[in-house]
Amino acid sequence: MSVWAVLAAAGSGERLGADRPKAFVRLGDRVLLAESLERLDASEWIDEIVVAAPPGWEEPAILVAEEIGCSKVSACVAGGPSRGESVRNALAEVPDDAAVVVVHDAARPFVDDEVIGRVVGALNEGWDGAVPVLPVSDTVKRVDGDRVVETLRRDELRAVQTPQAFVASVLREAMAGEDVSAASDCASLVEARGGRVKAVPGDSRLAKVTDATDLERAASLL
Ligand code: C5P
Repeated sequence: MSVWAVLAAAGSGERLGADRPKAFVRLGDRVLLAESLERLDASEWIDEIVVAAPPGWEEPAILVAEEIGCSKVSACVAGGPSRGESVRNALAEVPDDAAVVVVHDAARPFVDDEVIGRVVGALNEGWDGAVPVLPVSDTVKRVDGDRVVETLRRDELRAVQTPQAFVASVLREAMAGEDVSAASDCASLVEARGGRVKAVPGDSRLAKVTDATDLERAASLL
């Protein structure tokens, strides 16, 4: 059973205010991309990796992979204008005989083997996909402009992270639709087609780097 990882690293990172795409800002003495790439490469669960880099940054991404001695990166593609399109571009490089695809955000540097094992393990139980989740500590409301429309039941809500694992054929079908650019994660596309997705325990260390404060917090975890 071959397990492929798709690393979504093509975001612009506008909210970071850096002069380069988010995957190439510094985290410690390396670029952000290096942390998740090295961890996926070292994972006992992952066989091959496809990276979606910002258009024009494919070569630098390959150089990063070479510098840190990655042996599993089989392709680096140009991402698209949305996360969904970036994942779709990378998925095109995953061969038809792949059994499982693990999709991960490069913006979540501290991916580890335990959480990868939890999401991949759920597929062995017969699920179509699995996502790491955390309880939500804030109250979440639906709004229409300024007006609060509804307060959601917090005990039914979870914050969802990556890595997300899917049966490869299920993900491929879900990503073939027209709605990929609006999707904030891959699991939502699988769910929308009736796929069964398991929620497994996430990890606070998987928090996403979005702004400068997040980057400082990530650096403190190195
Ligand atoms: O923008 P955001 O932080 O939500 O992006 C989540 C992940 O998706 C990041 O790792 C980012 O690099 C990736 N992404 C992408 N292509 C895009 C937009 C985001 O690969 N067009």
